[in-house]
Amino acid sequence: MHQDDQDIQYKVQFSTWKKIISIIFKSKKHLVLLIIYSGMLASLDVVTPLFNRYAIDVFFVGGDYSTWPYYIAANLGLALAFGLVVWGFIYEAGIIEAEVSYELRRQAFENLQRLSYSYFDKTPQGWVMARMTSDTRKLSLIISWGLVDFVWAGLQMIMILVVLYLTFVRLALIMTIILPIMLVIAYIFTKWILKQHRVARKHNSQLTAQYSEGFLGAKTTKSLSIEDSNYDEFSLTANNLKRASIKAVISSALFSSVVLVLAYVAVTTTMVQGTIYVLGSVLTLGTLQMFLFYTTNFFEPVMAISRTLSDLQNAQASAERIVGLIETKPELYDKQDVIEKYGDLFQDMKENWEPLKGDVEFKDVTFYYKDNETILSHFNLKVKSGQSVALVGHTGSGKTTLVNLLSRFYEPKEGQILIDGIDYRERSIHWLHSRLGYVLQTPHLFSTTVMENIRYGRLNATDEEVMYAAKMVGVDDFVKHLDKGYQTSVGEGGNLLSVGQKQLISFARAILADPRILILDEATSSIDSESEMIIQEATEKLLSDRTSIIVAHRLSTIVNSDLIVMLDMGQIIEMGSHEELLNKRGAYFELYKNQFFKEKGKELEAVLE
Ligand SMILES: Nc1ncnc2c1ncn2[C@@H]1O[C@H](COP(=O)(O)OP(=O)(O)OP(=O)(O)O)[C@@H](O)[C@H]1O
Ligand SMILES: [Mg+2]
Repeated sequence: MHQDDQDIQYKVQFSTWKKIISIIFKSKKHLVLLIIYSGMLASLDVVTPLFNRYAIDVFFVGGDYSTWPYYIAANLGLALAFGLVVWGFIYEAGIIEAEVSYELRRQAFENLQRLSYSYFDKTPQGWVMARMTSDTRKLSLIISWGLVDFVWAGLQMIMILVVLYLTFVRLALIMTIILPIMLVIAYIFTKWILKQHRVARKHNSQLTAQYSEGFLGAKTTKSLSIEDSNYDEFSLTANNLKRASIKAVISSALFSSVVLVLAYVAVTTTMVQGTIYVLGSVLTLGTLQMFLFYTTNFFEPVMAISRTLSDLQNAQASAERIVGLIETKPELYDKQDVIEKYGDLFQDMKENWEPLKGDVEFKDVTFYYKDNETILSHFNLKVKSGQSVALVGHTGSGKTTLVNLLSRFYEPKEGQILIDGIDYRERSIHWLHSRLGYVLQTPHLFSTTVMENIRYGRLNATDEEVMYAAKMVGVDDFVKHLDKGYQTSVGEGGNLLSVGQKQLISFARAILADPRILILDEATSSIDSESEMIIQEATEKLLSDRTSIIVAHRLSTIVNSDLIVMLDMGQIIEMGSHEELLNKRGAYFELYKNQFFKEKGKELEAVLE
């Protein structure tokens, strides 16, 4: 579970709500209209019993039907007004709901673009997805409809009390006595219900996590045959969730019935007391009926308000998480003077950007992900512009760490990384990223066509340029055989293509971008020798005329590099050209020997088959 995914806070977080309120206020016009409509609804609700009182007292008891046509007309008017107001508040609440959720999602997404690579290393995808979907939906729903309830209920309560006191103080007192009892009960129940919801939510987020884990890991699960134990775990959590939800429902139901009982105690008392007044001719029948009506309906707004309050408290956890997402600061950022010169991610000032030549230097670089776990210590390496460097070494030796540092996905803790002789922190991240190509070990394709996937390398490239890049690295050869050619969709994450094909497409993307520095994290997964040859040719094209750093696994790539750097535990243990290192008969020689025999062995097997 994510670090700040702790459960709901008891205290109201003012800073969170301030942010949310600023977002709601972006729909100011609709907010005002919503309040007006909700207020009108409350007024109409209060006016209706007054109409009934008039009918009873004047028509039925008084027998005077002279105003009958006006009464009917007024009633029709009331019905029309109801219709208009109901339409109005549903419309406005709907708009506010949509606008708030749009704004929350927009701000969160914008911030996600700004966050550094390390954030995505640490944050599970499912966590972000849940914030962007269910939390924003929940929050905007509660805000818009909660607002209606709040305004409507609050105004109605006040108006009912005012009308009652204006008409007959002695009967109004009964309500006033019951009200505080009601509030205490509402308070106790709301707390109890909230607690049940809290427990349910905890189980729910566990369930969601298991669900997404199950989905993402479905293939692995199947290959490990652990469906059974996964299922057991899942059904245990699901069961806990069910039990907690039932408890929450029971407490809500109990609350409603207690309120109802109290309401009827109030109604009965009013009735008994009122009848005495009517018999004594202190009160008209119409007024008594009106009192009974108000008393019965008085508790509905009380419940609506306590429901809204508990909804809001429920929503606070969602609000905090979304605001947290919106306000997370990137771990890496440009200095103020750099932004002034180079611009930021959304507004670059390309006119001030220097060209990039491609000299790279790691100067006394020390780096760790976690304190006390140094990965690189006083690391030095110089690469001249146009050179191709192969990084080799055992798993965990720090190859990816090195290229991540160079890409400025992370920054050195001590020391510097110089590009063309200048510390890369003196220039903007965007400046570097738009001149640096990184072909990841596991290439990612977007769920669109082959054409668009390559075009991501340079968004303004023409179709011809895209296809030219594709031809250069041999993408063209397999695209020809796809049913829709370049317009074929690659499926989610590109999973309709093979790993080798995905890699070639990301090569084409890199070539199209024409970066000065190219980083290539070679796929370790084995591919057939024909694809291997195509990829090898593509790699050579890719490397020509630019600085390149390759995390190399394939012998052919390594052998052709200008410089081979052998790493072990974050240290360079050997460095030089292929011949130099072979002559040394050291670690590289051993690696080469093993790899060579392995590959020869494979060839031999292929011949024997
Ligand atoms: N995001 C991270 N957080 C914490 N530690 C990390 C992180 N990434 C890598 N490490 C640690 O840093 C060390 C170097 O890892 P790195 O990924 O650079 O190795 P590598 O040489 O690329 O290995 P491989 O050949 O398996 O890709 C390892 O000990 C690893 O556990
Ligand atoms: Mg690696």
